[in-house]
Amino acid sequence: MKRMRALVKTSPDTVELQQVPVPEPDASQVLIRDSAAALCGTDLHVYRWNTWARNAGIQLPVVMGHECCGEVVAAGAAVSGLHPGDKVAVETHIPCGNCLQCRNGEQHICANLKLFSIHTDGCFAEYAVVPGVCARKIPEAISSRVGAVMEPLGTALRSALEMQVAGASVLVTGCGPIGLFAVASAAALGATRIIASDVSPNRLEIAGRMGAHRNVDPGAEDLVAAVLAETGGTGVDAVIEASGNVSAIQQAFRCLRKGGRVALVGLPDRPLELEIGKEVVFKEAKVVGIHGRTMFETWTRMENLLVSGKLDAMPAITHVLPLERWKEGIDLASNATACKVVFEP
Ligand SMILES: NC(=O)c1ccc[n+]([C@@H]2O[C@H](COP(=O)([O-])OP(=O)(O)OC[C@H]3O[C@@H](n4cnc5c(N)ncnc54)[C@H](O)[C@@H]3O)[C@@H](O)[C@H]2O)c1
Ligand SMILES: [Zn+2]
Ligand SMILES: [Zn+2]
Repeated sequence: MKRMRALVKTSPDTVELQQVPVPEPDASQVLIRDSAAALCGTDLHVYRWNTWARNAGIQLPVVMGHECCGEVVAAGAAVSGLHPGDKVAVETHIPCGNCLQCRNGEQHICANLKLFSIHTDGCFAEYAVVPGVCARKIPEAISSRVGAVMEPLGTALRSALEMQVAGASVLVTGCGPIGLFAVASAAALGATRIIASDVSPNRLEIAGRMGAHRNVDPGAEDLVAAVLAETGGTGVDAVIEASGNVSAIQQAFRCLRKGGRVALVGLPDRPLELEIGKEVVFKEAKVVGIHGRTMFETWTRMENLLVSGKLDAMPAITHVLPLERWKEGIDLASNATACKVVFEP
């Protein structure tokens, strides 16, 4: 049996680069040879085996990693439209195909949603098996490194699309990978004023290179005052909240103009207080939760924006490492000097 290198979470305390059998696709799956795979906050949760990871339904051992790009090596008999040699990126939401949402074209919020690398083995390996429905063929013009980050990029682009940012002022709170991709997406879609906030100077510097006109460190200056000054006292037309930080979320609503729109992407680790009357009802704020990408309109638009050169994900990819240096990647990603770390298996 052919074997491969894979980064495996073997027990609550251990992660090991192991030799394991190359998986075999069933009729509904494809086998891909991974060319690039990106590290995400979720992988850090699994690595540390925190409360979220312990309760996510993960069966150990599991091959880690879910954001990836590769080449189809074999396609199951029931998979149509994918052939050996095709370049693909992976959608991590695995829909059931039968629930109310799936039948209404909202597969990404399927009632029985499974997640690649949480409920299946993942892609920090030489090969990975992926449900055919989740292997998205992409043009050769998109590099493997960018292909590997299309999953988080798509979440950010989706937020900017939902926020109708063309000709609008936008505040992006949090400039991790998702926030930086949101800044780039807002710029690509024609936002005319983009304010980015983060407590990390490195990440704010990258935000400037990806299209932010004004950076704010909320630890050093008053975010609400800065946003009001930037918008002639009205507040921004739209907010993309990508920090998950409770005080950032509370401030984000105070930065919004009356009639404005808010996309909530960040995941706070606890419930929070919000003055609903003042910040939502009388403001007529339109609040949208964003869970990943639509399948597959977001992917189609993202592909077009990348190929046209209007959207550039590269400035957020700060490190590219061979898989052997996985520990260094995890240490870099845990520290805000790095942003997106990509492994090349
Ligand atoms: N909804 C979804 O589909 C989805 C998908 C992926 C990630 N997420 C969530 O989105 C958030 C961002 O993901 P990421 O991978 O970019 O994470 P990240 O942790 O790398 O980025 C969060 C950023 O917020 C910054 N931050 C912290 N406190 C802040 C404050 N008060 N004001 C402004 N910025 C502050 C941090 O310095 C960091 O740069 C996380 O909460 C993550 O769980 C949601
Ligand atoms: Zn991810
Ligand atoms: Zn479903």
